[in-house]
Amino acid sequence: MELEVFFLKKKVTNHDLINILASKGIETSDEWISSRSGIKTRYFSEKNDKSSDLALNAAKNALNDANLDKDDIDLIIVATSTPDNFGGFPSTACVLQNKIGIKNQCPAFDVQAVCSGFVYAMSIADSYIKNGAYKKVLVVGAEVFSKILNFNDRSTCVLFGDGAGAIVLEANSDPGILSTVMHSNGKYSDILAVPGSLNDGVINGEPFLKMDGPAVFKLGVSVMTQVALEILNLSKKVPKDVDWLIPHQANIRIIEATAKKLGISLTKTISTVDKHGNTSAASIPLALDSGYKNDKVKSGDLVLLEGVGGGFTWGAVLVKM
Ligand code: ACO
Repeated sequence: MELEVFFLKKKVTNHDLINILASKGIETSDEWISSRSGIKTRYFSEKNDKSSDLALNAAKNALNDANLDKDDIDLIIVATSTPDNFGGFPSTACVLQNKIGIKNQCPAFDVQAVCSGFVYAMSIADSYIKNGAYKKVLVVGAEVFSKILNFNDRSTCVLFGDGAGAIVLEANSDPGILSTVMHSNGKYSDILAVPGSLNDGVINGEPFLKMDGPAVFKLGVSVMTQVALEILNLSKKVPKDVDWLIPHQANIRIIEATAKKLGISLTKTISTVDKHGNTSAASIPLALDSGYKNDKVKSGDLVLLEGVGGGFTWGAVLVKM
């Protein structure tokens, strides 16, 4: 697995957001946002930016770090819940392929698993590599959640941000990915959703993110704990073997509660939610990148990546770096 990199745009502090909401007559505070979520800043893309624009920068940097030519890539997977186009096609992965200038006609597709998207995409890439179908897979998590936030709903709009991260997974006789696990349960589809749909050119229902915060919190901690134990068990490991836990960056309280239930110290848990907010499918690669750049994650470390998101979906990837 090659070093991944990220791309973020305009920084928005809690104080900036307080002013934006105040101009609409909506009250919030740094104290409320920080104490409930741990978030201090997030990044919002420019008005006309799309997920593929953020993905392009992340992908270029990942190719650069991996010392690869763009046409070495033989599969592109983009995890996103905010695809470039309403209706989801052409896929953001195809748009990205064209923007990077990959000419080799490799397959490219999107994965929609909301905040679990990146671990789902890594799991899919890993399967293709292990069955010999592809050798160099570009895996990207890219989101512009600011476009689906309702800035009249203070309980959600303060929690999310935009961003992108990318990695290149390469076939190797000594595989870095030890195990992958994916789960979903559509019974919980209502607790986190963008409920609007399109019919005859008209949007029915709300085209904004809606969330039952307490329900998401409870289920999130429960499945993140379960899936961590499940994947460790698959590889005959236990929580104390984990050098770094990199959970989906939704909320510091979810991260802390999960780490506590697993008995993994917070000193071995990477958290970037204070800086980025919840960037959905981009949150895990952004946190991994921060782990590298801050000299925490090193070659040979056992790293547990785990995601949870709307659907409800959840999953994990256990990697020997
Ligand atoms: N500023 C000030 N007050 C607010 C704000 C805000 N931005 N948002 C809501 N409130 C108010 C509400 O109106 C309510 O007021 P009331 O009691 O007068 O009716 C009150 O705060 C609710 O406060 P709490 O009950 O303390 O809220 P809670 O502790 O449940 O925290 C939160 C809410 C942060 C959403 C919590 O439920 C949570 O963290 N849920 C998980 C959600 C999450 O992280 N989602 C990420 C997406 S999911 C994913 O990525 C998997």
